[in-house]
Amino acid sequence: MAALNVSALLFDYLSLQICLIFSVSFLIVYRLLTRQKQVKLPPGPPCLPLVGNIHKLGGKQIHAVTANMSAKYGGIMNINLAGKKAVLLTDLHIIREAFLDKTDRFSDRSNSRFGEYINGYRGSLIFENGNGWKSHRRTTLRALRNFGMGKRSLENQINEEGRCLARSFEQENGRPFNPQATVQNAVANVICSISFGNRYDYDDPEFRRLLDYIKGFMKKLAGPSLVAVFPRLWFTPLYKSLRKQNDEMRTFLQEVVEQHKDTFDVNDIRDIIDVHLQNNDEEGGTAEQKLPQALIWRGLFDLFAAGTDTTSNTILWGILLLTQYPHVQEKMQQEIDDVIGRERPPTLPDRLHLPYVDATLMEIQRFRPVACFVPPRAASVDTEIRGYKIAKGTQVWANLYAVLHSPEHWSDPDEFIPERFLSADGKKTEAPDAFIPFGAGRRICIGEQLARMELFLFLTNLLQRFTLKIPQEDPKPNLAGYHGLTLSPDRFRICAVTR
Ligand code: HEM
Repeated sequence: MAALNVSALLFDYLSLQICLIFSVSFLIVYRLLTRQKQVKLPPGPPCLPLVGNIHKLGGKQIHAVTANMSAKYGGIMNINLAGKKAVLLTDLHIIREAFLDKTDRFSDRSNSRFGEYINGYRGSLIFENGNGWKSHRRTTLRALRNFGMGKRSLENQINEEGRCLARSFEQENGRPFNPQATVQNAVANVICSISFGNRYDYDDPEFRRLLDYIKGFMKKLAGPSLVAVFPRLWFTPLYKSLRKQNDEMRTFLQEVVEQHKDTFDVNDIRDIIDVHLQNNDEEGGTAEQKLPQALIWRGLFDLFAAGTDTTSNTILWGILLLTQYPHVQEKMQQEIDDVIGRERPPTLPDRLHLPYVDATLMEIQRFRPVACFVPPRAASVDTEIRGYKIAKGTQVWANLYAVLHSPEHWSDPDEFIPERFLSADGKKTEAPDAFIPFGAGRRICIGEQLARMELFLFLTNLLQRFTLKIPQEDPKPNLAGYHGLTLSPDRFRICAVTR
C-alpha cells in the first residue's frame, strides 16, 4: 500500500513536471512564432546596393513587369526604392483589404521631397492628406455635381465639344492624321469649362503649349523616375524645360483665379473657382476647411492633370482598339444607328439601351487601363496586411493593371472581348468586383462619373459620323503602349472615313 502511494506521488510529481516543461516549451515556441510573425515582411525581389529594386521598376512596361513578378512573390511584395520602404499590391483581395477594410490606415498619399519641390502639397487634391484634403475633396465633388457631373446640362456641353471634335476630324477629309492633340484639347476643354468657365480653340497656341506640358510631365515623371529618387535633380539643367513649363502652367492658373476674383458675384456662381471663393467668403468653418485663395490654383492644377491625360488617353486607346477590331466597331455603329440614329446627339439615358457600346467602353478600360497604378498611398500607422508587417510611412503601390489582367478574374485576360461585360441575355452590362480602373476606397477617383460621361459621349459622337481606320500605308500599330505616369498608346495615325 505504502509502495503504491509513493509511486502514485512520484507519478503525480513527474506528470506535473512534464506538464510544466510542456507548457513552458509551448509558450516559448508560441512566443517565437508570433514574434516572428509580427516582424514578417512580405517577400520581394533581391535588392542592389543603393538603388534597391529601382533598376527593375523602370521601363515602358512597368505595369506588366510588376504584374508578372507576382507569380513569383505573391500578391503583396516588398520593394525597395533606393532605400525607401514600399510594398506593391497586385491582388484584388489584398487591395480591397487595404483600401476598403483598412481604409483608415491606407488612405494617405505618400509625399516626397520631389513633389514638394514641384508644386507643394497644400491645396493638392491628389496628394494632400488630413482634414484639409477631406474638405477640399468634399467641396470639389459637390461643385462637380452642381456643374453637371452625371446631369443633362453637362451632357449638352460635352456633346457640343464632341461636335467640335468631329468637325476637326472632318476637316482632314479622310486623309491620315494623328488624333492625339485634338482629342486632348476636347477633353481639356470640358475640365476648363467646369473649373473656370472657358473653352479654347483647338489651334490656340498658348493652350496647346500648356497641354504639351501636361503630356511631357506625364511622360517624363514616370513611376519611380530618377528625379523622384534624387529630388534635387529638379533644380538642375536636366529638368530646365519642364520647370519652365511648370511655372507657365502655374502662372496661367493663378491669372485665371485673379480674373475670377475681380468679377466674382456671390449670386452668380459660375464654376469651381467661384465655389472656392464663395467658401472663403462664408462665415463659419475652420481655417483648415477653407482653401486659401492663394492655393485655389493648386487644386485646379490637379483637376487638369488628373482629368485630361487619363480621359484623353482612354479615348485614344478606344480609337486605336476599334481600328484593330473592326467587327467591334461595326457592332457598336449598328447599335448606335438602331437606338439613336446618326443625327440626334447621344444622351446619357441612351447608354442603358446600348449594352454593346457600354460593354466595349468597359473593355477598353480593362484592356488598356490608363491609370495602371494609383498614385502611391502610405500606411498612416504601423499596421499589417495578411500577417505582414507594414511600418508607418511605408509607400503602398497598387497595380490595377495586374487586377484587370488577372486570370483569376478574367478568362483570356489578354484578349479584347467586350462580350465579357454583357449579361447572359446580352441586354445589360455587368461589372465584376475586379473592374477597378478608377481605384477603390476613400481616395477613389472623384472624376469617375465625368470620365464615364466623356468616354460615352465623345466616342458615340465620333462613331455616328465616321469609320475609323489605320492608313493603309502605315505599319500595324503596337498595342502595348508606354507607361509614363499613365499608360498611353504610341503615336499612331488614323483615317476618319465619313459614313
Ligand atoms: C478615364 C479617366 C480616369 C481614370 C481611369 C482615372 C483613374 C483614377 C485613379 C485610379 C485614381 C486613384 C484612386 C485611388 O487612389 O484609389 C484617381 C484619382 C483622382 N482622379 Fe481620376 N481618373 C480619370 C479621370 C478623372 C477626371 C476626369 C478627373 C477630374 C474631374 C479626375 C480627378 C481625379 C482626382 C482629383 C483624383 C485624386 C483623388 C484623391 O486623392 O482624393 N480623374 N483617378
